[in-house]
This record gives sequence, C-alpha cells and structure tokens, in this order.
Amino acid sequence: MKEAIIFENVTKTYPYYGYVTAGFKNFILHLPKAIKNTKKRFVALDEVSFKVYKGECVGVIGKNGAGKSTLLGLAAGVLKPDKGRVITKGRVSPLLELGAGFHPELTGRENIILNGVLLGMTKREVEKKMDQIVEFSELEEFIDQPLRTYSSGMVARLGFSIIAHLDPDILLVDEILAVGDIDFQKKCMDKIMNFRKDGVTILLVSHNLEQVKKLCDRAIWIDQRKIKAIGDPDEVCKAYSSLLACV
Ligand SMILES: Nc1ncnc2c1ncn2[C@@H]1O[C@H](COP(=O)(O)OP(=O)(O)OP(=O)(O)O)[C@@H](O)[C@H]1O
Ligand SMILES: [Mg+2]
Repeated sequence: MKEAIIFENVTKTYPYYGYVTAGFKNFILHLPKAIKNTKKRFVALDEVSFKVYKGECVGVIGKNGAGKSTLLGLAAGVLKPDKGRVITKGRVSPLLELGAGFHPELTGRENIILNGVLLGMTKREVEKKMDQIVEFSELEEFIDQPLRTYSSGMVARLGFSIIAHLDPDILLVDEILAVGDIDFQKKCMDKIMNFRKDGVTILLVSHNLEQVKKLCDRAIWIDQRKIKAIGDPDEVCKAYSSLLACV
C-alpha cells in the first residue's frame, strides 16, 4: 500500500504566553521569571509517528487539548514541526478551524472565491462552481451578506460546501461536522462517504465516536502528547470511552 501521510518522530511545541504578552509593565515587574519563561515551551505533540495509506479514512480522537488540531495543522502544512518530518503526497484540502481563511467583512460569495483560491483553485474555476457551492450550502438568501452576520453553523456550511467541490487527494477535517444542524451533518457525511469511495485519503478529527466507528478504517487516540492507541476504530474507541468512564 502507498502512503499518503507520513509523520516521523514529530514534535511540536508552542511558546508559553506569560508575562511577555501581559504588557511591558508586567514584563519588567516580573523580570527574572519573565525571562526564564520566554525560554520555556509547551510540548503539544511529542515524537509522534504514524502513516496513513492512500484511500484510507483515519479518525483522530482524544480529550480537549490532547493535540488533535495540532496534528491536523501539521498535516496541512500550516504548522511546522520543531523536530521530525511530516510528508504528504498529493493535493491537500484542509478544513481546519471554523472560519479559517475567511474574511468577516467579505460576503459569503466573496469568501467562496477567496477560500477557493487559497485552496488551490483558479478564480475562474471557483466562479464556474459558484452556483453549485451556494446550492450545496443552502445559504442562497444570505450569500451576499457579510460573513460577520453568519451564525457559526452557517460559516461551517460555507466552509464544507467549498471543500465538497474541490478535487482533493487528501482531505483534512477538524470537528467541522459538529456545528451544522442534523440535516447538514448528514449531507456532509454523505459527501465524505463519496470522497472515500473515490479513493480520497481522509484524516478526520471528531468527538463523535459513533461517526468515527461508522466512517473510519482506523482510529488514532491522542493522549498527553502521544499516540495512546492506533488501529481498529471499534477497539480504539472502546478503550478511549472506557477511560472516559473511569474519570
Ligand atoms: N497557538 C498556540 N499557542 C500556544 N499553545 C497552543 C496553541 N495551539 C494549541 N496550543 C496548546 O496545545 C495543546 C493542544 O491543542 P490542540 O488544539 O491541538 O488540542 P485538540 O486536541 O485539538 O483539542 P480540542 O478537542 O479542544 O479541539 C493545548 O494544550 C493547547 O493549549
Ligand atoms: Mg481541536
């Protein structure tokens, strides 16, 4: 089997935001501690290695703050590892945080163009697909309003509708399905199933274990910066939920 995503001993750290970001006065007042703290970094992922094969759908699960979105950000190339290597093969379409790549003052329609271009389409291609994208989003009534007037579910609809009309090799989806209403969630699930049938490699972060069991070939459980388990979704989800039941 050919690999589509490879993580090799990947470590990702973030700076600690302490006295430095609390203003100059605060920085001076706490000078010794503040200087010490600027060197300290928070480890979000620690020596993580795994492979996702072409055409596989892999679910990423774990508690809040475990490092799931960090992992997806690295796969998308938006984040760079401090150590190790991330390799992706093919066109990557990321659907990360809600509204990432959108501009609040632009209309829905303008944001479709902006986002489509950011995701690698030409302006012409986006314009050609515009009607289909708007129809899929079911936001016809609001499409010429500025994005800041949209609810979070509506922003998610717009984001997924753009992704649904791309032609990716690798699809990265972070939690986006959770904010849409039930009808739209079903529509997204059907679209993801279609992508799967077409051989698109999918890495999907979700807190919905039923969804992971239904959609995915394998699951990765991230816990305390490391991979706690990887393999059969039923087994990995069972192990994760039994740990949740203990706390
Ligand atoms: N830009 C950042 N700067 C500093 N720390 C960050 C940054 N982004 C994430 N972190 C920290 O890294 C850790 C992992 O965050 P991440 O967003 O990857 O978690 P997650 O598993 O996606 O959580 P959730 O289920 O809540 O979405 C958290 O402790 C978070 O505070
Ligand atoms: Mg997250």
